[in-house]
Amino acid sequence: MKYLIDPMDLSVKEIDDLISLAQDIIDDPKKYQNVCQNKILATLFFEPSTRTRLSFESAMLSLGGKVLGFSSASSSSSTKGESVTDTIWTVSCYSDIIAMRHPKEGAPLVALKRSKVPLINAGDGGHNHPTQTLTDLLTIKREKGRLDNLTIGFCGDLKFGRTVHSLLKAMSRYSNIKFVFISPKELNIPEYLKKDLLEAKNLDYKEVHKIEDVIEELDIIYMTRVQKERFFNEQDYIRLKDTYILDLKKIENSKKDLIIMHPLPRVNEIATEVDDDPRAKYFDQVQNGRYIRMALIMTMLELQNEVEK
Ligand code: CP
Repeated sequence: MKYLIDPMDLSVKEIDDLISLAQDIIDDPKKYQNVCQNKILATLFFEPSTRTRLSFESAMLSLGGKVLGFSSASSSSSTKGESVTDTIWTVSCYSDIIAMRHPKEGAPLVALKRSKVPLINAGDGGHNHPTQTLTDLLTIKREKGRLDNLTIGFCGDLKFGRTVHSLLKAMSRYSNIKFVFISPKELNIPEYLKKDLLEAKNLDYKEVHKIEDVIEELDIIYMTRVQKERFFNEQDYIRLKDTYILDLKKIENSKKDLIIMHPLPRVNEIATEVDDDPRAKYFDQVQNGRYIRMALIMTMLELQNEVEK
């Protein structure tokens, strides 16, 4: 596997294999502690991050490897006008695998042309976030025991939320998934995903405005932050940012085994009173992000079979 730019770059079988490997790492992490000895991961973040960058670094360190990189564009030569392609070409001379985040949609695909090492998209603008999707799929598999026969509600900023776009694409390949989109009309799921994915594959979906109208139906509710950084007009952001605040009252009629997910960071979308509820799984996602990225790094470096017995 030489790149991961879009979740659809992975077959269902490859996703299953990554989830199995992550589960084995969870069960016996010591077995994997030296797998990436002498390997270097570069994390190039042209846009802020807490979880994705640090979980990639934690993953590589947990595999016995080393890390280098930058956490903002301002500390790289991109401020002098260097292109993203030249930056990746350069860093691929210093590392064995690269994870990059960029505010421009498609930047990792452009950079891929000059990378001499495997390249992972760690989020490109409002487009895709495939490793968050792997994290989410591992979480769903661990919590529900399956990736099919589920009703999933996506709530919040469905227009700009790249984690939603990526997870929707990935889940569209499993059988009997019902999608419920909960958003204000200004932040509806993009037309191209409705036309080219949901309608093209004849998938079951509906669009609503209120959580309370659908909460009873859901197996999963996937909350998202309104993406301030993608708005052109601050007034629009201020008007929409607190449209949905999930609290205990709003989930009182949910299924007992509902799971509440959020890729984080959270601003106001989930009241902190929900954090200790057994349905809350968003910090389990954080934990799973480390394990699935360990599995991904090993697989992309073709080291998944180099394990201590
Ligand atoms: N989920 C996620 O991408 O979080 P960060 O922006 O903190 O990396």
